[in-house]
Amino acid sequence: MVEFFSEGPLLAIETSCDETSAAILEGSKILCNVVYSQVDLHRQWGGVVPEAAARAHVDAIVPVLSEAFQQSGIDKSKIKAIAVTNRPGLVGALSVGVTAAKALSLSLNIPILGVHHLEGHLMSPYSLGDLVYPHVALVVSGGHTELVHVRAFGDYEILGETRDDAAGEAFDKASRLLGLGYPGGIAIQKAAEGHTPKYNLPKGLSGQTMEFSFSGLKTAVHRLVEAEGDNLDVGAMAASVQEVIAGVLAERALFAAESLGVEAVSLVGGVAANKRLRELLEQGTEKLGIRLLVPPISLCTDNAAMIGLAGSIRLARGERSGMDLGVYSSSPLPGLEE
Ligand code: KG4
Ligand code: ZN
Repeated sequence: MVEFFSEGPLLAIETSCDETSAAILEGSKILCNVVYSQVDLHRQWGGVVPEAAARAHVDAIVPVLSEAFQQSGIDKSKIKAIAVTNRPGLVGALSVGVTAAKALSLSLNIPILGVHHLEGHLMSPYSLGDLVYPHVALVVSGGHTELVHVRAFGDYEILGETRDDAAGEAFDKASRLLGLGYPGGIAIQKAAEGHTPKYNLPKGLSGQTMEFSFSGLKTAVHRLVEAEGDNLDVGAMAASVQEVIAGVLAERALFAAESLGVEAVSLVGGVAANKRLRELLEQGTEKLGIRLLVPPISLCTDNAAMIGLAGSIRLARGERSGMDLGVYSSSPLPGLEE
């Protein structure tokens, strides 16, 4: 069992990429989770433009915070601590959330804590109830693809990661090549509905491994799009892309769970919204007789509630950040620093 911050309401802020989000929690209870997505802004460029993301956070942060106080019915004067994502992410984007957190901390005279974005994702299935430890976590987003052995909260071992593109990036790039738009994961999933995979695409690395490689997939899709021209069956191609990405992710996560003999697998990050991936992991974990922990979709994509859950446990343990809290584009999980 983990202990959560119990001195009163906790405010959480997340601005690491293209979602401006604020949540208010009481213990492990999520009172509200306001998410403003910038996806409509970035669609014109087919991906997140860091400078534009930072400016959009500047515009959105105060309205999103006001909405969180309003939805939760908790006046800001009642907030007793702030958890804010400070790493890893786009530095301009992170700076907006961290600066807002510092300003509130100074004016309300309450503590703040910088939270690791991936530790937030790892905590997202907690909303289902208690987490099972140890477990294997499959962290799959636009920027990350990692298998983590979670022995306990804060006790992590990286079992394997991608050598090139992240899983979400592979969906996004394939979607662009197929002319299906941005963001690619949901576009590919929709285009694949009702279609059977028929194109042969590479799985990246072969054999029993916990590592991933998706760059070959992008090249193969590019080649097939050129070779097939107007004859390309876009639905079948989308189904093939989804099948190979979801298949590789599920296969490696199940291999890791079986090798380590853990009782549960968690699926977190934006790509965890993928229906086929959920289905494959449901079937696989059932076969192994172990549990699958998947948060609701609202907690899969970037949000402040998950940052609040992770920050709350660390705040309860007495951890605090100072006014010198910095922002970092890359950072290992807590406990794995050199
Ligand atoms: O965790 P997230 O919201 O942001 C990052 O931290 O990166 O993940 C965004 C990624 C995008 O690449 C998007 O295409 C992917 O998650 N994604 C999906 C689905 N929904 C979002 N990928 C596959 N299937 C989906 N349904
Ligand atoms: Zn994320």
